[in-house]
Amino acid sequence: MNYARIIVNGGCRGRCVCDHVYAVHLRGRKHSGHGTLMFQQQLIPSSLGGKIPDVMSAMSEIDFSALKVVKYPDPRLREICTAVEEFDDSLHRFVERMFEIMYAFNGVGLAAPQVGQTIRLFIANPTAEPGGEYEGVYINPEIIERSGSDVGEEGCLSFPGISCKIKRCEAVTIRASNIDGETFTQTAEGLQARIFQHESDHLDGILLSDRMSTVAKITNRRLLKDLEEDYAQSK
Ligand code: CO
Repeated sequence: MNYARIIVNGGCRGRCVCDHVYAVHLRGRKHSGHGTLMFQQQLIPSSLGGKIPDVMSAMSEIDFSALKVVKYPDPRLREICTAVEEFDDSLHRFVERMFEIMYAFNGVGLAAPQVGQTIRLFIANPTAEPGGEYEGVYINPEIIERSGSDVGEEGCLSFPGISCKIKRCEAVTIRASNIDGETFTQTAEGLQARIFQHESDHLDGILLSDRMSTVAKITNRRLLKDLEEDYAQSK
């Protein structure tokens, strides 16, 4: 696959000329505290013609404050996300911003591709309240054990207004790295296990609409169509 190595500066709060979630700045300014993340070439904003300008490979920035929720059917939600390799300050700032967004929408989970960054990372908190023992960051996660089955109501910040019954495993064990790159395993059941499965799906480009029953698809047909029309109009 073809990647652009983009210098990320989460400290920059400058305005971007485009309204794109990547908000890549091309001023070429260098700040202290640079970090790096890997992005796929197709993630370059369309405002840049889908090409990677030379300057971007060296000095571009992503304005984390400009990140926003990517909604169905945006093709970025269909990417197979790439592994996180660098656990640096930029990653910390990115995760902080993800938590702000998740709590702002009363979410219980949010995957990086939902804010336009196709890296293998999600955050979760089944309480939807900031802080507490259930708040977690899961980087390069793998579900290593599954058991039981459970049907429960599920929504997704990328499918606003839609909620439907989805069958999941009742309990799972996940292995992941934390924000400092340390590996851990965690066993969860119920809602937390459901979140782990839903968010792990996002990292492989699998969406709520893929897991819906035919009946749920019919029930939510109008809402899905509205989202498709909104997306088409935003292009
Ligand atoms: Co979701």
